[in-house]
Amino acid sequence: MAPDNALDALLHENRRFPPPAELAAAANAQPDIYDRAAKDRLQLWEEMARRLDWDQPWDQVLDWQLPYAKWFVGGKLNASVNCLDRHVAAGRGGKVAFHWVGDGERDHRDLTYAELHREVCKAANALTELGVKAGDRVAIYMPMIPETVVAMLACARIGAPHTVVFCGFSAEALRGRILDCDCQVVITVDGQYRRGAPTPVKAAVDEALLECPNVRHTLVVRRTGGDVDWDAGRDVWWHDVVDGQSDQHQAEAFDAEHPLYIMYTSGTTARPKGILHTTGGYLTHVSATHHYVFDLKPDTDVYWCAADIGWVTGHSYIVYGPLANGATSLMYEGTPHPGDKDRWWKLIDRYKVSILYTAPTTIRTLMKWGAQELEPYDLSTLRVLGSVGEPINPEAWVWYHTYVGGGRCPVVDTWWQTETGGIMITPLPGVTTAKPGAAMRPFPGVSADVVDNEGKSVPNGSGGLLVLTEPWPGMLRGIWGDDERYRQTYWSRFPDAYFAGDGAKRDEDGDLWLLGRVDDVMNVSGHRISTTEIEHALVGHPSVAEAAVVGASDPTTGQAIVAFVTVRGSVAEDEAGGEQLVESLRNHVASTIGPIAKPRQIMITPDLPKTRSGKIMRRLLRDIAENRELGDVTTLLDPTVTEMIRDRMTLGAED
Ligand code: WTA
Repeated sequence: MAPDNALDALLHENRRFPPPAELAAAANAQPDIYDRAAKDRLQLWEEMARRLDWDQPWDQVLDWQLPYAKWFVGGKLNASVNCLDRHVAAGRGGKVAFHWVGDGERDHRDLTYAELHREVCKAANALTELGVKAGDRVAIYMPMIPETVVAMLACARIGAPHTVVFCGFSAEALRGRILDCDCQVVITVDGQYRRGAPTPVKAAVDEALLECPNVRHTLVVRRTGGDVDWDAGRDVWWHDVVDGQSDQHQAEAFDAEHPLYIMYTSGTTARPKGILHTTGGYLTHVSATHHYVFDLKPDTDVYWCAADIGWVTGHSYIVYGPLANGATSLMYEGTPHPGDKDRWWKLIDRYKVSILYTAPTTIRTLMKWGAQELEPYDLSTLRVLGSVGEPINPEAWVWYHTYVGGGRCPVVDTWWQTETGGIMITPLPGVTTAKPGAAMRPFPGVSADVVDNEGKSVPNGSGGLLVLTEPWPGMLRGIWGDDERYRQTYWSRFPDAYFAGDGAKRDEDGDLWLLGRVDDVMNVSGHRISTTEIEHALVGHPSVAEAAVVGASDPTTGQAIVAFVTVRGSVAEDEAGGEQLVESLRNHVASTIGPIAKPRQIMITPDLPKTRSGKIMRRLLRDIAENRELGDVTTLLDPTVTEMIRDRMTLGAED
């Protein structure tokens, strides 16, 4: 990008960004919210829980038996009723819940709260007719279309926990998730649109289900009209079984701790973890954070969270948070792409978006395409900008603030995880004086710390590991079917705190900066991907003997996947060196996990650098991949290996 002197000046002045006075005066969060949290955080969470409709109030706010929390014990509510019925009953049924825009603006549709309510009631009746009962798991493998939201809320309405699988995952990844939580119904589409072109989806479900004997039905939404194979005993069309149902449905109230959904996320082993979220605490957390962090004014704001529903950000901040708050949202099926550089600005202008929530990767991409793309459009409706998913570099922060926000919109850099359910560390737009690149402070009611390896709190001005020191309402309630792994992953590193797996710094003022993962999890374009999972996929290829994967820093995607591979002795020499093998390996990873896991670069090398005890030295590989001076090589078995790899790296072409 051309140097931008104005941006440079802003960066180097070390500027602070106080809240705009007008916004601050009317903001949902006032400065005293931190004092109230310090005085009695449980009371504050109770106050936030009262923003929801409960069929039965709780007797106890929190029952904490480390590492298991129960929130709002004894309370009963229905998540779907909180997202829909109560708004309709309050006379807001005519209000738009979603302005939906299809990929490439092929089509669009506005859905009011009343319409969404009717659709969800019909789908809930259809699921019941298909034999789904409270407690049964339902897999949802769908793109960004309104029916995906309908399917989720219909599941929630009848108490059937959903597991939404990102539509970019492969058949094999889908199968693993279906089997892990034993789903009996899968909701999907015939196909989806990607960058204007229809691509099949149901075919992947068919493939996945070859080895899922317990799946009784697939419920298929017609999206592209493409040809699909049909299993008459198992497959049913959405329009056949949902459209004709009654649009009335009396929802049952469920226990606050009733499972709401399972979301799979990558860990440090090859097997994804099924993160379990329950109803009352989760809904409290996401609706309260959505209200305060984005300063949502449901009567006037148009809110756009540009994540995909297949990830936790979509669950919490496209579906549950905004709908519980009665917000009007923009929902866009497409993703930014070079053929369409001004699409985002056009959509903000057209729908008068006032709150935008997206990932740093997207901001950097839009920044690369240049501020001139924004010029033809009126972005003056924007008033709050959010960032999530990975550390935001100060350059991207300042660009976002200056060009997208016209210098007048607070930027909230929100840190959280699939496991936390909702936002944990964040500025508050009417309160915080922001620093570009810092997530600043725990949300009121959240307790976080930065500690050293022994678990001792570090002083201001130092770095360490981020921990959460008190339970919070949206916290995961466990890993589906694997208590031991839950304890091991999050609660064994330190005796009495949740280990987040992120490095953090506490600056001289005590404000928090998130520095990225400290484990074998990469963050590529804001997506969590495990190095081990990709290594596992690579060694599953018949030509591969060993594989090591590292995340190398990348100016746009944050990190990029670089794999080092040795081939089996039986692989012929010309094949082992060939581009064809590299391509076949990349495709193999895509079909095992999904296209998002395709390595940017695969290096075929005669050997991998190992310690004397036989451990692969990923640290060195990362140095090589990032073209840095090699760190300490004294423990390396054969130091010539790294030189050899480095020589080949410089020869190897990137694509
Ligand atoms: C990273 C996404 C820095 C972090 C909501 C975390 C961030 C992982 C930020 C969770 C942020 C998320 N600044 N890093 N504002 N937000 N992360 O589960 O490493 O997909 O552990 O949840 O993303 O990713 P997940």
